[in-house]
Amino acid sequence: MQDPKDFIKKRYGEIAKDGTSCCPSCGCGVEPKDVALQVGYTDNEVNNLPEGVIMGLGCGNPVALSRIKEGETVLDLGSGSGVDVFLAAKKVGPSGRVIGVDITEEMVNKAKALASKYGYNNVEFQLGEIEELPIGNESVDVVISNCVINLSPDKERVFREAYRVLKPGGRIMISDLVTQGNIPEEFRKSFEAWVNCVGGAIDKKEYLEIIRKAGFKNVKIVSEKPYNIGISKELAGKILSIMVEAYK
Ligand SMILES: C[S@@+](CC[C@H](N)C(=O)[O-])C[C@H]1O[C@@H](n2cnc3c(N)ncnc32)[C@H](O)[C@@H]1O
Repeated sequence: MQDPKDFIKKRYGEIAKDGTSCCPSCGCGVEPKDVALQVGYTDNEVNNLPEGVIMGLGCGNPVALSRIKEGETVLDLGSGSGVDVFLAAKKVGPSGRVIGVDITEEMVNKAKALASKYGYNNVEFQLGEIEELPIGNESVDVVISNCVINLSPDKERVFREAYRVLKPGGRIMISDLVTQGNIPEEFRKSFEAWVNCVGGAIDKKEYLEIIRKAGFKNVKIVSEKPYNIGISKELAGKILSIMVEAYK
């Protein structure tokens, strides 16, 4: 299969402009705020984020479980419009920093505009690929990500990059979709399924093995749920939303 990145940039560029989306990880016909509540954000979080930031693109709430502390530096892989960056910004406070990296220019621009409009001074958004992060070695305390790594055709490289940028003892808290059981081959070959966060999703065991292979220790699933929002009947029960913690 060809590299899906151009298709991803085009589709997420459209989503950034429309302010909403229509895909399994986002729930066709379901209000973005309802998707956010269903995947684990609280009412308080949803109601106190910048207006328009929630597009229902996440599949978990990585900040909630990441034990982010004041003064830490946090990196969000595939930050989209900045939902998790803005939540993490409150936790790190003025002495900390949260960096979002995303491949889609429209997403980065949207997140930057919201940061400036709502006065978030401890965040930055960079255009870039999670397979080749524009971030220095050993410069980050926590790497988070929400429903993005499934979209990467080179997941091993993504986790190697996360490992490289983390300080020794640093940690990851990754929310993502993985599969269990056989997935029909047509989904694997479809750009449409890929961009909708299911085509590129891989088996849970394989996912954890990739994280270990990148060098991470104490790799642990801290949350696991069947993921059903907008999932077609052929895939029912085969998609899981997991949250993985691991340490450098
Ligand atoms: C499903 S959305 C999730 C956005 C955000 N994490 C959230 O929860 O709202 C996927 C995001 O990942 C970005 N993305 C996909 N592949 C990427 C890559 N290889 N490098 C950087 N960003 C990527 C897309 O542009 C999009 O903004």
